[in-house]
Amino acid sequence: MNSDYIAPRFHDRVALVVGGAQGIGKAISVRLAREGARVVIGDIDEAMMKQTAGEIADQGYSVRTVLCDVRRSRQVDRMVERVIEWYKQVDILMYVAGVVQSLQFVKTGEREWDHTLDINLKGAFLTARAVVPHMIKRRHGKLIFMSSTNAWDAEAELASYNASKAGVFLLCKTLARELGRYGINSNAVGPGLIRTRLSEPFLKNPRFMKRYEHLIPAGRIGLPEDVAGPATFLASRDADYVNGVLLFVDGGQLA
Ligand SMILES: NC(=O)c1ccc[n+]([C@@H]2O[C@H](COP(=O)([O-])OP(=O)(O)OC[C@H]3O[C@@H](n4cnc5c(N)ncnc54)[C@H](O)[C@@H]3O)[C@@H](O)[C@H]2O)c1
Repeated sequence: MNSDYIAPRFHDRVALVVGGAQGIGKAISVRLAREGARVVIGDIDEAMMKQTAGEIADQGYSVRTVLCDVRRSRQVDRMVERVIEWYKQVDILMYVAGVVQSLQFVKTGEREWDHTLDINLKGAFLTARAVVPHMIKRRHGKLIFMSSTNAWDAEAELASYNASKAGVFLLCKTLARELGRYGINSNAVGPGLIRTRLSEPFLKNPRFMKRYEHLIPAGRIGLPEDVAGPATFLASRDADYVNGVLLFVDGGQLA
């Protein structure tokens, strides 16, 4: 073998990307698949999920899909069971599913609050709970949760989102404490403003953009691919001694 040869980082790994149908989750799925992982995408959006999986498969990489609403524990358990039936293992969990609703605090209803918290935080809990026993059995695993700069820097009119993203980071840190001894790493990624469907209403709002743009030293809005590299680093062996961190990917916004 050529001494310069470097094996694909994830050639023996099975990765479950929850919320991988589009946006940041799609970029992560593509990156993991290209680097050798057998990728399973779980998402509620069947059409986008099939499209993304088709694009990955067309490039000759391994990908499967499971339809799943992360708010439903039965569906989450079933999704993880499918992964185990197919591959007998799950090495990487990327919890990327998320929603945002911008509302003045006094106008935030219980329904809006629950919707955001159920997907962004409870879904992360349900998915990690289903995956972790399989990782404990094999004494290794990488959990990566999509948090946000909003976990640290609260933005007005995003109370439920800010709380959900801080919550998911504390969930992540708890798992780092509890599961480190089983060879499981639990880390979070904190994107700044990234160009996706989720951020579109903000990007289209001139008032928001005027206030926001000068806050980013990089001088540009991020792309999903900007997040895929740091997220997959946390899933790699290079991150074996990294546990409980929130890695901001924000073009320096929080510097
Ligand atoms: N775009 C940004 O600026 C930004 C910044 C910081 C953090 N994030 C976080 O990154 C993650 C991905 O966001 P994105 O910008 O790629 O958004 P997106 O809307 O493009 O993707 C979100 C994905 O989550 C899936 N999803 C939503 N509800 C679900 C449910 N109930 N069950 C299963 N899947 C569900 C969607 O179908 C979609 O595929 C989110 O957690 C978001 O909060 C995004």
